[in-house]
Amino acid sequence: MVTMEQDYAAWVEQDQKQLHPLQNAARHTNPVVVERAEGVYLYTTDGRRILDGMAGLWNVNIGYGNTELPDVARDQMLQLPFTSNFAGMSNLPSIRLADKLSGYAYPALKTTCFTSGGSESNETAFKTARYYWRRLGKPEKIKIIARNAAYHGISMGATSATGISRYHTPFGPLVPGFLHIPNPNPHRYEGDLRPGETVGQAAARALEEAILREGPETVAAFIAEPIQGVGGVIVPPDDYFPLVRAICDKYEVLFIADEVITGFGRTGQMFGLTHWGVQPDILSFAKGITSGYIPLGGMQITDAIKDVIWNAPDADSWMHGFTYSGHATACAVGLRNVEIIERDGLVENSRVLGERLLKGLEGLLEFPQVDNVRGKGLLCGVEIVKDKQSRQPDMAFGNQIANTAMSMGLRTRVVGNALAFSPPLTITAAEVDTIVQTLGDALVKLNTPQ
Ligand SMILES: Cc1ncc(COP(=O)(O)O)c(C=O)c1O
Repeated sequence: MVTMEQDYAAWVEQDQKQLHPLQNAARHTNPVVVERAEGVYLYTTDGRRILDGMAGLWNVNIGYGNTELPDVARDQMLQLPFTSNFAGMSNLPSIRLADKLSGYAYPALKTTCFTSGGSESNETAFKTARYYWRRLGKPEKIKIIARNAAYHGISMGATSATGISRYHTPFGPLVPGFLHIPNPNPHRYEGDLRPGETVGQAAARALEEAILREGPETVAAFIAEPIQGVGGVIVPPDDYFPLVRAICDKYEVLFIADEVITGFGRTGQMFGLTHWGVQPDILSFAKGITSGYIPLGGMQITDAIKDVIWNAPDADSWMHGFTYSGHATACAVGLRNVEIIERDGLVENSRVLGERLLKGLEGLLEFPQVDNVRGKGLLCGVEIVKDKQSRQPDMAFGNQIANTAMSMGLRTRVVGNALAFSPPLTITAAEVDTIVQTLGDALVKLNTPQ
């Protein structure tokens, strides 16, 4: 046990006995130990105040220090913290939240299955897609097509859908049946682009070609984040998702939208695909549903999928679920969190202040290493290169910028070729300006000979 009297060195020594996610364990020598947080600010044990430009891990949508959610959690814990949601049991918070979310993200998605996070939601989506086709007499339809630079989580199926090799190599072999195609990065399209074709058309064609190459009778689903987050905040061109939707329909491939980041207001719309007027067949959500105050996630499905599950005989039931599916306390907190997002106009704040953030970041394009700035709502990326002639990504420099910004009181994170900005949706205009100013100061410092 560490006591409050111990100094930072002692905390670090203790902390090194823990295995931290996504960290080279031997390099965990100088951790930022956060003690408390308020609004958009983190306060560390060594007395620093840091503007959390990432809202935790893209999830603390209502900001830190909300006092309603703890009250809801406390009341629910005293009444009923948890009960099984398995095999014939249920609880009122999960019934209420499922009712609230019915048709909420997309009118066609009315049925919800709860999980505890994004990986579990995607795992649930993959298994449901396979189950659906098998019940319809098409058991060969098992393959899942995902995109390069996709991030879908850390469990084995979700890792296999993830399109970033660093997540694969330490843990192979991956689950069979997952394959990847180019993503529609308008700034750096890596696929084959024909004369006269837009990047959106080329990337959609890549999907169609993959389906035809594999055989439509073997493909269960296509999964995509509306805006790729961990892959580098990649915003697709406007023509991409309508084309994807049409291709999925043409070949009877289910379209899974992974809105773990883009859900619940992050992009200036309540859900991401609404920017392009498209509905998925299956939706994965997590993060913003509780703003990170307690773990919760879920999957939603169309009536067509629901009917197949509902009509199955007992011997072939949908045998899936987690201990914490429909967790009573998490669902009670989730419901209030969604009500707060609505009541406080946070989706509109995300849209309006997202435009301000994007415009401010665009001002940094004058620096030799800032090659591209993109985003929707309060989800923005700043691409970092060696120089604008070679346009070679330089994430070593990206990390230097992130570390310098951190020392100046701003938290950002290197993702793909970019620095990500995804602050709480409660952020003010002045705080948005602080993000831009601090990032600019970090760039000036690093461009000034020491
Ligand atoms: C798009 C996306 N999907 C899935 C996940 C995995 O969610 P979790 O870490 O809650 O399992 C993440 C996490 O960052 C994500 O960004």
